[in-house]
Amino acid sequence: MIKVYESVVNYDRWINNELKSFSEKLINFKLDTPDSTYAFSATEDGFLLHAYYGKSLGEDDLGYLLKLNENPFTLKSNLREKGTFMDAKSFEYPCYGTGDYRESCLKVLDKNNMSACELHYDSYEIIKGKPSLRQKGLSVIPATFADEDEASTLIIRMVDKPLKLVAKLYYTVFNDKNVITRNVIFENEGEDDINLTRVLSACVDFDNSNYDMITLNGSWARERFVERCRLHHGKQGIDSVKGESSHQNNPFVALVSSNCNEDMGEAFGFNFVYSGNFYACAEVTQHKRTRFVMGINPLDFNWVLEPGFDFVTPEVVMVYSDEGLGKMSRTFHDLYRENLIRGYYKDKPRPVLINNWEATYFNFNTDKLIDIAREASKLGIEMLVMDDGWFGHRDSDNSSLGDWFVNENKITGGLKHLVSEVNRLGMKFGIWFEPEMISPDSELFKAHPDWAIQIKGRSMTQSREQYVLDYSNSEVRDYIYSLMKNILDSANIEYIKWDMNRQITEAGSTTLPVRKQRELWHRYVLGVYDLMDRLVTDYPHILLENCSGGGARFDAGMLYFSPQIWTSDDTDAIERLKIQYGTSMCYPPSAMGAHVSDCPNHTVGRTTPFDTRGDVALVGTFGYELDVTRIPEADRAKIPGQIDKFKKYNPLVRTGDQYRIGNMFEDNMWDAWMFVAKDKSEALLTFVQVLGRPNTPSRTIKAKGLDENKTYLVEELNLRLSGKTLMNAGISIDMYGDFSSKTYHFVSAD
Ligand code: GLA
Repeated sequence: MIKVYESVVNYDRWINNELKSFSEKLINFKLDTPDSTYAFSATEDGFLLHAYYGKSLGEDDLGYLLKLNENPFTLKSNLREKGTFMDAKSFEYPCYGTGDYRESCLKVLDKNNMSACELHYDSYEIIKGKPSLRQKGLSVIPATFADEDEASTLIIRMVDKPLKLVAKLYYTVFNDKNVITRNVIFENEGEDDINLTRVLSACVDFDNSNYDMITLNGSWARERFVERCRLHHGKQGIDSVKGESSHQNNPFVALVSSNCNEDMGEAFGFNFVYSGNFYACAEVTQHKRTRFVMGINPLDFNWVLEPGFDFVTPEVVMVYSDEGLGKMSRTFHDLYRENLIRGYYKDKPRPVLINNWEATYFNFNTDKLIDIAREASKLGIEMLVMDDGWFGHRDSDNSSLGDWFVNENKITGGLKHLVSEVNRLGMKFGIWFEPEMISPDSELFKAHPDWAIQIKGRSMTQSREQYVLDYSNSEVRDYIYSLMKNILDSANIEYIKWDMNRQITEAGSTTLPVRKQRELWHRYVLGVYDLMDRLVTDYPHILLENCSGGGARFDAGMLYFSPQIWTSDDTDAIERLKIQYGTSMCYPPSAMGAHVSDCPNHTVGRTTPFDTRGDVALVGTFGYELDVTRIPEADRAKIPGQIDKFKKYNPLVRTGDQYRIGNMFEDNMWDAWMFVAKDKSEALLTFVQVLGRPNTPSRTIKAKGLDENKTYLVEELNLRLSGKTLMNAGISIDMYGDFSSKTYHFVSAD
């Protein structure tokens, strides 16, 4: 709910040992979600001051929160001593160069190469629902969506008069979720270009610094490990400068009270709906307050905003929880499942797939794929995905990206034949592409060397023996899309894995004009979005799964196009405990690509029981990544049962609430989690013993999220217990052996 009211704030201030009274007119904005309030006000002289973000407040006049601090240097005559005021007050959208020395959201270079700017309040508007985001003439920008009865949007118009620059601050407030989203649209109403050198999407000023910062950091094969640090004076943050959201830092930050754990304490979660270079920073200021900002990374960014044009920032999703990290994550999960993920598979079970990457790598042909499909279909697997290596003359990772023509030496009889055979076995067929890439050894590079991202006169860095295509150039996108279309129209293809396996270097475009070269990073991402948008529009029934060297682009921007993302190239069940735990901080398990793979695991060399691999992969989209014709018979025999288990529990994973119980970052001996149906009629508890413990009593695991007053049958133990007992006393779990797992199904027995 959005409430706007005017008020007068009266306050006293000591000035030269004399108490002076002041009053000031305010326009107040109060944004309420079910459990949170976000409040700010516009002052008479046009400053947009932040008042509050946190647990719900009453229907009071909140103007008093904005009174000025006493300051010995405050002028007698004036309401504010601007030099002090600018660097002390809490602002909604701080600008660079006029006295606020903290992290800013906006910085420009005007026609005289001056960088100062100051936005002043002009007017506001409230609309029902939530407008979609689009950069005119370029691309749709991924964002959460909401119907008129789900949310309303407040738009604050701000103006920098000397620059004739308009900034519209958008705040969408969800009615039944503790979510507020933020983004900004700039319009140049002047006659001169304005260089936007820093345009962040959101700022929140907190009135204290007693927070811990939680981030999701990692590397290839160990993405989104959870790290928690106490805030300290100065700046602490995360970013990406790689052209993608990255393996190293995910565009997610939570600021939490020091007593915050899974179930209690305050958590403010921030997630940037963007797949390129991002920046997030928490600054503890001289006054022991915290400013948090998030948006496109200003490093190497400059957008030339021409007269009459606009610039749309991506959005930041802000989630508030008064019941710890668990509730924060469940809010993100609900929001992303209901208001971000779209398309045919949004609410549908996903087919159980088998992917040939770890089974064959590049060494496959039609016969091999059909062998795998034949065996897989007998076991109940529903889709075969042909991974990297089916096109050009690609037999290793050193060639052919960009040549999206079927290699008929490998795919003998052609793609249509292969797909028909797979379909004849009762299975769907999926295919791998890496559309953003170009190999130096490719027909495409011979014909269009200028289509790769590059700086003329400077050597081009190869990574995985490939370059990145210049997706800011629509000719490049059109060409790649025409090749993809040829493939997709040539056979019954029902799934695409869209991969992206290197980062951008020598960021230059052969087609952008000189003054627009620094737009390349953002234009590249918009180009990717444009192509994905075309793809999901033209092929609405195709299931799109994103991937980037495993999980380097597991972000909300990608979830807008693909309902699932490959979580990590690390498929080891134990490593996955950490990866999937971290990913679930912000992203729904129903979107996590999770497969059972062969052992010893190809990444870490570990051998884990087949059952454990299955139980861990259940918390995700579920599938297989192994040569089903060659694994041990005992493992193969387990697959039909695993698939039955997946079918039984997947509705809970896809639609239920997740409760994290254990966590390997705090205790690396075990992990446990639950999925509880929204109506609390059933739940699934999964326990994994990482390492066996000699001579110790059973472990007690307390359930979470059940209905206290319901009686549940714990099927595996044949125990009938109330929700109250299950949550307060728990069940005892005896396990023997490293890497072992057990699942428990709780069914309401009232
Ligand atoms: C990336 C992906 C893998 C696989 C390979 C193919 O690393 O993450 O799953 O598709 O590329 O080259």
